[in-house]
Amino acid sequence: MRRAKISIIGAGNVGATCAHWCASKELGDIVLLDVPQTEDMPKGKALDLMQASPIMGFDSTIIGTNNYADAANSDVVVITAGIARKPGMSRDDLLATNAKIVGSVAEQVKNSSPNAIIIVVSNPLDAMVQRAFQVSGFPSNRVIGQAGVLDTARYRTFLAMELGVSVEDISALLMGGHGDTMVPMPSCTCVGGIPVTQLISPARLEEIVTRTRNGGAEIVGLLKTGSAYYAPAAATAQMVEAIVRDKKRLIPCAAYCDKEYSVGGYYVGVPVIIGSNGVERIVELTLTETEKAAFQHSVQAVKDLVASMSKLV
Ligand code: LAC
Repeated sequence: MRRAKISIIGAGNVGATCAHWCASKELGDIVLLDVPQTEDMPKGKALDLMQASPIMGFDSTIIGTNNYADAANSDVVVITAGIARKPGMSRDDLLATNAKIVGSVAEQVKNSSPNAIIIVVSNPLDAMVQRAFQVSGFPSNRVIGQAGVLDTARYRTFLAMELGVSVEDISALLMGGHGDTMVPMPSCTCVGGIPVTQLISPARLEEIVTRTRNGGAEIVGLLKTGSAYYAPAAATAQMVEAIVRDKKRLIPCAAYCDKEYSVGGYYVGVPVIIGSNGVERIVELTLTETEKAAFQHSVQAVKDLVASMSKLV
């Protein structure tokens, strides 16, 4: 059986680190692609990573390139291309530049890998995944946005730090857009099966949610020269794994919701089952009135972002 072909567009920190996690998990053969202006950089990163394989013990072919022909007929295409945030910038400040970049990448993917499943990571995520969906013309199950796994991982990390327990025992869910309006779901958050509300006071939980919402900005503020990449890349690799191993993971992702949650045709973070067909099912939860209001507020922020993007492209 042939190995899965995974192309990662954008060989910056998120793209290269995603290649690293995917290779080390032996998810498939990897193409790391960046624009011609970057010349040999993707080749250098790919070769360096490949030379780690005898030490770490993984069998993956990793090539770096500037040429979409090398990425042809991929099973999964991860789009990380675009500029990253600098301190003081919000994800939305990236809108105009990244909408153009993601649009042109999606056009190339449409032509070179017509059967691929696209995972979008570029920011502002909810608008960029909508853009890739519009331009590729792929069915919505084959265009997915990475955000919920990252946001939930941050939340799980902070909860584990708070309680002094293993991260493995925290299971949690955040919904909505990948931004300041993301919606925590305390009713879907457990620690070793115990509802988190029995272990942490509402006030403290709210502080942890706020830190999660600002999780990306906290890293930008510390790095000063760019944004987070280890956790975003790991979150993306988990989605790639769910697809290439047909794992049917139930994880939060930005998925195209029409009738679902009455969203009306936008990408928002919702719990989905991910397998070899991409988004295989959107899981609809019954939300409390508070959760419903917060979710609607978040969906409105996504709609506003997409409307701003429409004026720019
Ligand atoms: C973050 C960026 C990658 O949340 O969106 O760190």
